[in-house]
Amino acid sequence: ALSINKAGALAGKTLLITAGPTHEPIDPVRFIGNRSSGRMGYAIATAAAQQGATVTLISGPTALSTPHGVERINVSTALEMHDAVMQHIKGKAIFIAAAAVADYRIATPAAQKIKKSTAQTSLTLIPNPDIVAEAAALPNRPYIVGFAAETEAVIDNARAKRERKGLDMIAANQVGPGLGFDTEDNCLHILSEHAERTLGPAPKPSLANELLLLIADAVNEQH
Ligand code: CTP
Ligand code: CA
Repeated sequence: ALSINKAGALAGKTLLITAGPTHEPIDPVRFIGNRSSGRMGYAIATAAAQQGATVTLISGPTALSTPHGVERINVSTALEMHDAVMQHIKGKAIFIAAAAVADYRIATPAAQKIKKSTAQTSLTLIPNPDIVAEAAALPNRPYIVGFAAETEAVIDNARAKRERKGLDMIAANQVGPGLGFDTEDNCLHILSEHAERTLGPAPKPSLANELLLLIADAVNEQH
């Protein structure tokens, strides 16, 4: 078994990470979700702990077990994830937003199961807060890394997304049938203000290690 490395690249660093999907309730038995398995975020949390970081993982609903040595906080909705992030971000050196957060939620979830007989065929949606963008606007904020899951124009969309949200770094991957979500192997395009590079294709644990080494370099250069 791998153990915590007190001399690792992230020794002494505190790291907050979100992972997994969010579930937005429609009624007590139904929700809107997405295909995120949480594996990339959990791989990063695992690797960060192995590299010596103190890791807080804010997780949406996943089928994964808590990585060794990681503090895990379970949430379900985007609003819960938002509140947990705002509660735990203060004083952290690094924030990685790996969660696939639902962009919208149901305006008024039904208190009781919606019956077929009501023939309700539409839902009113309202926007969720953009957690990583809000984090990036905080004073004395951590080094912030976002993800961009794209089905087309991956690099261009990710570059624009990094700038729009005010992130230090963005990790872009192509998603779609057989790619990204719900798969073992992945490819990440890492974009920061001054550098662009591609990691993989490789298994998520090895991508996680390489991404964290890039982040550790960038964070250490800041000081
Ligand atoms: N993110 C977030 N809060 C949201 C939506 C997204 O923190 N409400 C974060 C994700 O965790 C990810 C990054 O923002 O790190 C990009 O998410 P993505 O869905 O690709 O970007 P959006 O801005 O929502 O753009 P779109 O879905 O239109 O591509
Ligand atoms: Ca989105």
